[in-house]
Amino acid sequence: MLAWLEERTGAVSALTQFLTEDVPGGASYWYVFGSATMFALILQVVTGIFLTFYYAPSAATAWESTKFIYDKVPLGSFVISLHYWGATAMIALVVMHLLQVLLFGAYKKPREVQWVVGVLLFLFTLVMGLTGYLLPWDLNAFFASQVAINIAGTVPVIGSGIQTFLQDGATIGTLTINRFFGVHVWLMPALLLALTGMHLAIFRHNGGAGPAVDEAELKKMKPGRFWPNQLFMDAVVSFIVFALICALAVMSPAPLDDKADPNQTSFQPYPAWYFLSLFGLLKYLPPNLELLGTVVLPGGLLTVLILLPWLDRNPSRRLSRRPWLVSITALTVAGTIALSVLAQMQIAAGRAASPTVASSVSAPTGGSGTASTDTSGPGAKIYAANCSSCHGASGAGMPGAFPPLAGNAYVTGNPKAVEHTLLYGLNGAIKVGGATYNGVMPPWKGTLSNADIANVVTYIRSSWGNKASAVTEAQVSSVTK
Ligand code: HEC
Repeated sequence: MLAWLEERTGAVSALTQFLTEDVPGGASYWYVFGSATMFALILQVVTGIFLTFYYAPSAATAWESTKFIYDKVPLGSFVISLHYWGATAMIALVVMHLLQVLLFGAYKKPREVQWVVGVLLFLFTLVMGLTGYLLPWDLNAFFASQVAINIAGTVPVIGSGIQTFLQDGATIGTLTINRFFGVHVWLMPALLLALTGMHLAIFRHNGGAGPAVDEAELKKMKPGRFWPNQLFMDAVVSFIVFALICALAVMSPAPLDDKADPNQTSFQPYPAWYFLSLFGLLKYLPPNLELLGTVVLPGGLLTVLILLPWLDRNPSRRLSRRPWLVSITALTVAGTIALSVLAQMQIAAGRAASPTVASSVSAPTGGSGTASTDTSGPGAKIYAANCSSCHGASGAGMPGAFPPLAGNAYVTGNPKAVEHTLLYGLNGAIKVGGATYNGVMPPWKGTLSNADIANVVTYIRSSWGNKASAVTEAQVSSVTK
């Protein structure tokens, strides 16, 4: 039978050749991350195809069809949770794979092209995470993606073009879901599978890079075999990864918030964990440095990664002879983790001070220079319930997405203009503190009474160091569109 198949397809010799590969320096658990990432990719493809059988991309059906998968489809909740935790696993594994290759110096000649393809795979995996985040169309999907799209909009020159492309229009809606769906289900998977194929083909051409020692030492080491040694280790780890994903899917199913609703303005969006560090960076950068966080640092890091084989001319692969690479890598990893932890703490604090808990707002904040902030008046409660989710509890806003109200000359300027903004909303690009914002501020006429609007305008004009006159209900009533 085998001879018959071999004669007609060459499959048997191809497989034998594939399996009889030398592993320089011997098989090792250090080399399993690449194959484990590929396993996670296959799991995402399989579970993803299952989800497309039910999912219907449009503002009227995205959330409903996702809910249907949870409630009605046999094993639906389990498969959606496998997809959810599989994404986490794939990103964690691709990062570990990248770090291992980095520290082992495996990107050096002759593996430059393989490395560049790998960095692109890492980037596209993140794009998959970002585009998948919107699809369930729940509150968090909506507001977190709004932040992400607004951040893309801050890129100089091409930003507004990218924003319009991603939204496919002026606001987030059905067309946005379709764009993200197309990217998530067709474009990125096609690129990921094609590039993974290239990555493997080039890998076969160059062979494994082996341990982090220099060429001469490597030659003296006895090579291991791909089959059965390395393949066994790869299989063990992929199996452990699969078992973990299954356990997490059962114990902690993927969350689904209420359906997306642009008027649910007190909702606090939270990013996926792998974007927490970026979120933290934006939180802590002053608004006039926001481009540093949205473009310069992430773009710089990506450029350095892509060009690394040419930037790093050090011929040695031994860690002890590459102090620069080791220290920069350690600093970057530590910085990313620290920013993520800070961002997580911020989000937790924001939740604690969240709208419904008006009492936490009226609690005295201690003598920390906020003495002029009247935290107990009616304006404070209206602000906490309706505005703090976007503009922040202390009026600091969020770089790239929501302008600060503290220290904002527009807020403390002509009261009529501020009242107008509150009543009728605002969109189009505005400049605050040197940074551009181009989002949508919802209109409040009808949602808030004129008295409430007067109170909240008085509040933002006299809080967080702002010092400007109070406004009255009569003034608000006199403002016309
Ligand atoms: C959904 C998020 C969101 C909520 C909730 C929100 N805002 Fe805004 N706000 C924005 C955005 C985005 C802008 C900038 C609009 C633009 O770019 O044109 C803005 C702009 C403003 C401005 C104008 C700032 C300037 O410098 O021109 C003021 C004042 C303001 N908001 C006050 C408030 C108050 C008070 C509330 C609560 C009643 C509130 N906002 C609730 C998103 C929000």
